[in-house]
Amino acid sequence: MRIVLFGAPGSGKGTQAEFISRDQGIPHISTGDMLREAARNGTEVGLKARSFMDRGALVPDQVMIEVVAQRLEKDDANKGFLLDGFPRTVEQAEKLDDILKLRGTGIDAVLWLEVDDRELVKRLTSRRICSGCGAIYNLLFQAPITPGRCDKCGSSLDQRVDDQQATAQKRLEVYQQQTSPLKDYYLSRGILKKIDGAKSPDEVYSSLKETLRSGRK
Ligand code: AP5
Repeated sequence: MRIVLFGAPGSGKGTQAEFISRDQGIPHISTGDMLREAARNGTEVGLKARSFMDRGALVPDQVMIEVVAQRLEKDDANKGFLLDGFPRTVEQAEKLDDILKLRGTGIDAVLWLEVDDRELVKRLTSRRICSGCGAIYNLLFQAPITPGRCDKCGSSLDQRVDDQQATAQKRLEVYQQQTSPLKDYYLSRGILKKIDGAKSPDEVYSSLKETLRSGRK
């Protein structure tokens, strides 16, 4: 399956993507993770992207389209993929459609995790990420057993620069202005599926699985 996981910052895309990718056996392609890795490695794209990410702005469309087009060329994406964080503008969505059309395919489902803004800000500002394995935690909702340490690998937990209150708020504004219009884009194509993302991670995942199952019938 070729799936887009869609939703505001903090709606649970990364959390749910891990479950879906494991169960469906398709690669989880997170543009945010790819950009952060590129920035850590000091590549030209990574350093350019960081200046946008750290202030909560979107990285320019041309850069993102190139990054994703290259990633979709890899063999593991032939059997399907799960996009997390892309597309984020109508221009990105149109280019993605063009790329897939050239291969005779298209997006099967766009799964939209809906969560209200107050909850999103709480989730973002209390998120912590493992510096070793990248596991996602939350000081309010999914705290590690030992404070400050990853349950899986024992490494220290970090806060993302863009999860500080002011930048988190800015990202939500950017989402409303630039990404939200994509709902109409995918609604008009009949592939947008809305899921209540405010429930527990397990409940959200059950809804996602059910939606994917019913879409196949
Ligand atoms: P990116 O990394 O994609 O960030 P995002 O979309 O803002 O999403 P997040 O990673 O913040 O949240 P999420 O929905 O994955 O939630 P998570 O599961 O982690 O992008 C970062 C930046 O990169 C962008 O701002 C932009 O600059 C740039 N960028 C990336 N792609 C781009 C593109 N296509 N175009 C242009 N620029 C681009 O969960 C959040 C927290 O909530 C966690 O602590 C988690 O434990 C907790 N949580 C999750 N689910 C639940 C639940 N059900 N109940 C309670 N807590 C929960």
